[in-house]
Amino acid sequence: MTDMTGKKAIVVGGTSGIGAAVADVLAERGAEVLRASRATGLDVSDGAALSSWIAQQGPVDHLVFTAGSQAPGGVIASLDLDAARAAFDTKFWGSIRTAQAAAPHLREGGTITFTSGFLARRTVPGTFAKTAMNAALEASAKILAKELAPIRVNVVSPGLTDTDAYAGMEAEAREQMFDGAASVLPAGRVAQPRDVAAGHLFAIETLSVTGAVIDIDGGALIN
Ligand SMILES: NC(=O)c1ccc[n+]([C@@H]2O[C@H](COP(=O)([O-])OP(=O)(O)OC[C@H]3O[C@@H](n4cnc5c(N)ncnc54)[C@H](OP(=O)(O)O)[C@@H]3O)[C@@H](O)[C@H]2O)c1
Repeated sequence: MTDMTGKKAIVVGGTSGIGAAVADVLAERGAEVLRASRATGLDVSDGAALSSWIAQQGPVDHLVFTAGSQAPGGVIASLDLDAARAAFDTKFWGSIRTAQAAAPHLREGGTITFTSGFLARRTVPGTFAKTAMNAALEASAKILAKELAPIRVNVVSPGLTDTDAYAGMEAEAREQMFDGAASVLPAGRVAQPRDVAAGHLFAIETLSVTGAVIDIDGGALIN
């Protein structure tokens, strides 16, 4: 286990699901971890507040962004474009805003790790908002990896993961969705948050990985 004593990490989205699991694995390795979200007073759609909060944290080693799991579904012909824009503003622009604000404060050897989703590269009618914002994020991370080098910039792309993102569903419908997915996914299971956090940890620890998209999707993209 890598010793991260003396390292400082910010996990935006770190109060729930995948972000909370990333924060836990970094803290278990000795890092000082700041977990941020609206629950702690940080809304990534407020650029000025975000910049000033990040500047207050001082030098940082690792930035992880997992915020913004909600996006409207539906075919483009009838999609609520304002809702799609709001989802983009949190997840896509929130990621870019946070990276822009944090970059000047990242220490030598620093990393930025974003979180996309398997729909970035899977064509499923009715999923435009998720597909578009995750694809944009994956493409942008590769540009940032060159522009910010030697800061390393990567993306973890989860498949269906058992988190509070689905807390709004009826318990029975949620179970059915997870069971159905597990029965068709090559890995035979729906991911737990720590499975996905292992990808963020890999991106942070592996000194030669940058501009990469790490798929932790149970095989969804080969299905
Ligand atoms: N779970 C899946 O099946 C799955 C699949 C593919 C991709 N992903 C991606 O993985 C990432 C994490 O998903 P998750 O399942 O862990 O979601 P989650 O459990 O719903 O957690 C989302 C986190 O984002 C924070 N957040 C939301 N809006 C925010 C805002 N405006 N400003 C600051 N923080 C905000 C939430 O806290 P507050 O509400 O307190 O702000 C929460 O901490 C997301 O990008 C999601 O799209 C998830």
